[in-house]
Amino acid sequence: MEFHLGDNMPEMSSTHSVKSLNHRFTRAELARALRLAIADEYEAIQIYEQIAESTEDEEIREVIMHIVEEEQKHADQFWDLLARVIPEEREIYDSAVEENKEIIQRIRS
Ligand SMILES: [Fe+2]
Repeated sequence: MEFHLGDNMPEMSSTHSVKSLNHRFTRAELARALRLAIADEYEAIQIYEQIAESTEDEEIREVIMHIVEEEQKHADQFWDLLARVIPEEREIYDSAVEENKEIIQRIRS
């Protein structure tokens, strides 16, 4: 299926504004919402890591870093959902991973 991001797309500048939309997503809108969700997970990771780095309290640091791992899992889950919505992108990611492995192998040899 051919689609173009940005075609008749409702305003979605963050997942927070996605919440206020009240209609069924097209495939392109769903993909865009998932990308925003992924970005939010990474933003959360960034903030939590900064909090962990800013405290001397070992217990707080440990709990926050546990939360960071959870957020990473959420990001991975959203990536998987995105690849389900756009299977051709999973192929792109997979081929990129393979290409990186080849490059790293070449560098190491
Ligand atoms: Fe999360």
